[in-house]
Amino acid sequence: MPLPHNRRVTRSTSRPVLIAPSLLAADFTRLAEEVAAIESAGADWLHLDIMDGHFVPNISFGPAIVKALRPLTRMPFDVHLMIAPADPYLAAFAEAGADLISLHPEAGPHLHRSLQTIRGLGKKTGVVLNPGTPVESIAHVLDLVDLILVMTVNPGFGGQSFLESQLPKMATLRRMIDESGRDIRLQIDGGVTARTAPLCLEAGADVLVAGTAVFGAPDRAAAIRAIRGGQGA
Ligand code: DX5
Ligand code: ZN
Repeated sequence: MPLPHNRRVTRSTSRPVLIAPSLLAADFTRLAEEVAAIESAGADWLHLDIMDGHFVPNISFGPAIVKALRPLTRMPFDVHLMIAPADPYLAAFAEAGADLISLHPEAGPHLHRSLQTIRGLGKKTGVVLNPGTPVESIAHVLDLVDLILVMTVNPGFGGQSFLESQLPKMATLRRMIDESGRDIRLQIDGGVTARTAPLCLEAGADVLVAGTAVFGAPDRAAAIRAIRGGQGA
């Protein structure tokens, strides 16, 4: 859908928009510099994609990298687990320095218990909905959730195209969150760019993950501004 870059965005939530660049798109030979660069470019959180070659068809990195990066930045660490089972590794990611740990309902048989475990480790919780996963799968765990992540690609790889079919799901979740009266953030991950970000914000999102669109940009500060506000780039 063509969308002019200077289009005014009508947001359905007044919370500030947070930008969480995904480290998956960084230059892995220069991780420390890459993290410093996006922090000074205005990133709010660092999104860390953990892939096991089993839950998703790709392998990324584990808690040792999270731990190594932790002292290098003040950005909160937003750890997106694409691993199954997830439960045996929750403590390792908490100890490595995760501030928020997100997992997919399909990663284990007891989502409620996994969320309790993350809370018990003193961390914020997130649940992630794959493109084919319905919102009903999390309706009964909202009391244990700090963030809901809507995947706008099938997880496993950066640089894929944004699935506009997920926009109605965002709007449904925004209504569900508002009706619950709970302090839950609505995050979007996959194919987020200056063109697709306004669609997410209009549908009620308030945290945007962006890998390629930030790390692949020559001017990361301009890229972050463009995604956050819909202006520029
Ligand atoms: C996909 C990951 C995403 C990915 C986003 O499985 O969860 O975080 O890195 O990358 P882009 O922004 O390039 O689509
Ligand atoms: Zn992710």
